[in-house]
Amino acid sequence: MSRILVVGASGTVGSELSRLLAAEGETVVRATSRAPVAADQVALDLVTGAGLQAAFQGVDRAFFLAPPGHADQEALLAPLIDAAAAHRLQQVVLMTAMGANADENAPLRKAERRLEASGLAYNILRPNWFMQNFNSVWLHGIQTAGQIFLPVGDAKGSFIDARDIAAVAARLLTSQGFAGRAFDLTGPRALDHAEAAAILSRATGRTIGFTDITPEAMLQGLLGAGLPADYAAFLVQILGYFKAGAAERTTDAVQQVTGRAPRTFEQYAKDYRTSWA
Ligand SMILES: NC(=O)c1ccc[n+]([C@@H]2O[C@H](COP(=O)([O-])OP(=O)(O)OC[C@H]3O[C@@H](n4cnc5c(N)ncnc54)[C@H](OP(=O)(O)O)[C@@H]3O)[C@@H](O)[C@H]2O)c1
Repeated sequence: MSRILVVGASGTVGSELSRLLAAEGETVVRATSRAPVAADQVALDLVTGAGLQAAFQGVDRAFFLAPPGHADQEALLAPLIDAAAAHRLQQVVLMTAMGANADENAPLRKAERRLEASGLAYNILRPNWFMQNFNSVWLHGIQTAGQIFLPVGDAKGSFIDARDIAAVAARLLTSQGFAGRAFDLTGPRALDHAEAAAILSRATGRTIGFTDITPEAMLQGLLGAGLPADYAAFLVQILGYFKAGAAERTTDAVQQVTGRAPRTFEQYAKDYRTSWA
């Protein structure tokens, strides 16, 4: 059994990962940038660096991600990777994003390269766009207008259920045989947003549609919602990659690592249907 540090432990992937690891009898150290309120939490703020060394005390393995809202993910991840090396961790699983390795100078790719060169045993997970965006970041438009508003036209994405990302990470952190490998994680098939909206409509019994908007309108919406300008511009840029088809391909990585097929969008919509009530 290991003592495993989970960064982003209260988030979409990290909360499910923490649950899965604890269920397997691992000791989970849940990092939070807020004041810890439970015995298994540890204070760690990646923006200020507060709590960094203390968070690694007694830790054998770790799961890292960069919290959303920051365009320079390398600045947040580099100290984590360096601390993991200094504490001689047995293994690090880093989650970046599908396509992160398309540009060697992208901040997420620079973080990946730092991990690859660290001497640590590692895995890199590059998930495609999460299904859970539909019940979180895209939720406002659905609730207020019954529409998903995005600048992606009819491009398709093989959306992945974040619970499957967590299952892959949990398996990698508790088994041997995958060392040094990177995985592009996708759902079982690619859908466009009109198809996704139709599936959500069937699951909820309400009419949900998709409206294609301009990148400029998207940017103004994100800025209006209070996102930092550089992060809003980053999101519009990667939505442009989606529109260009970069999110369409599927992989068998979830099946390979966990031994079972990734969840379908229909299953996700059913499980989360109260989110859009
Ligand atoms: N959404 C997508 O479609 C998609 C696709 C591919 C990749 N990704 C990647 O997924 C990651 C986000 O994962 P997620 O959706 O599971 O996260 P999430 O639900 O947005 O949660 C973010 C987590 O980060 C923690 N956090 C926030 N500020 C922090 C700070 N200053 N220091 C330390 N921790 C902090 C939060 O916990 P506390 O509030 O407790 O600190 C929270 O647990 C990003 O790196 C993104 O690039 C997302």
